[in-house]
Amino acid sequence: MIIVRTIPELRTEVRRLRQEAERQSGRAEVGFVPTMGYLHEGHASLMRQAKEHCAVTVLSIFVNPIQFGPNEDLARYPRDEERDLKLAASLGIDIVFLPSPEEMYPQPTKTTIHVREVTEPLCGASRPGHFDGVTTVVAKLFHIVKPDRAYFGMKDAQQVAIIQQMVADLNFDVAIVPCPIVREADGLALSSRNVYLSGEERKQALGLSRSLRMAEEWLEQEPGLTAEEVKSRIRQVIGEAPLADIDYVDILTFPALQALPSGEPVGQAGSDVLIALAVRFGRTRLIDNRLFSRQGGRLCSVK
Ligand code: PAF
Repeated sequence: MIIVRTIPELRTEVRRLRQEAERQSGRAEVGFVPTMGYLHEGHASLMRQAKEHCAVTVLSIFVNPIQFGPNEDLARYPRDEERDLKLAASLGIDIVFLPSPEEMYPQPTKTTIHVREVTEPLCGASRPGHFDGVTTVVAKLFHIVKPDRAYFGMKDAQQVAIIQQMVADLNFDVAIVPCPIVREADGLALSSRNVYLSGEERKQALGLSRSLRMAEEWLEQEPGLTAEEVKSRIRQVIGEAPLADIDYVDILTFPALQALPSGEPVGQAGSDVLIALAVRFGRTRLIDNRLFSRQGGRLCSVK
């Protein structure tokens, strides 16, 4: 596994491995997994997908300062480079790109990418500027790595919708591959931030995935429920945990992320539907979601 920390080295190595792969097998697709490190099984699933589909795989580990707000957890964001590199090597990743903040931002950036509308609801409302930081760094990474395919987890479903929009609007020559959420056996969605949770907070955080499973059952049994009714039931389930402080519970179309017409049954939505939540436990903010898609005339949960 090649480890590089500078942009010129990364470009050289990607070019070299791409040419080598082309010579050896005629296949030269570069698969890219951008991350902020502190890797877990969710990231591993992205890396496995990239390995399966691409001749050359690149992983980036970069805690991107410009996507954190002034009161967010940039300084205490968990890091473990040694463990991350071991995991990447065990999965057969070809190149790991570990740039410093100075390498990525030698001077404060005067150019940012702002995607309109899809950035406004959900996490965009509670983390102003966050998605501009994400799209800006992802655009930079795409220019640096030049991948054919880039892999993103659906736990950040809004991030996936925004990046797909950016790629379409700005004609990036890369296929975005959304990958399913990976969960612990008890349902908790994997996140690098789960390490912040105390034992009690972690127990109470199970209300997030439980409420989403229940929402799936409600929609199956009562497709006439409106978004307001489902949201209020979800709030009730999560609210049973005394430590839970709900940031948002929302039900929107996907990937446009628009509100469903007021009073209309969720089961009659004309597009895919995303139920998304963000809940704080102490200083830790967790997100989770479930995507529903129409199959055989019925709205079904996408596994
Ligand atoms: O999802 C993440 O880990 C980050 O938002 C990303 C895409 C690596 C950009 O910093």
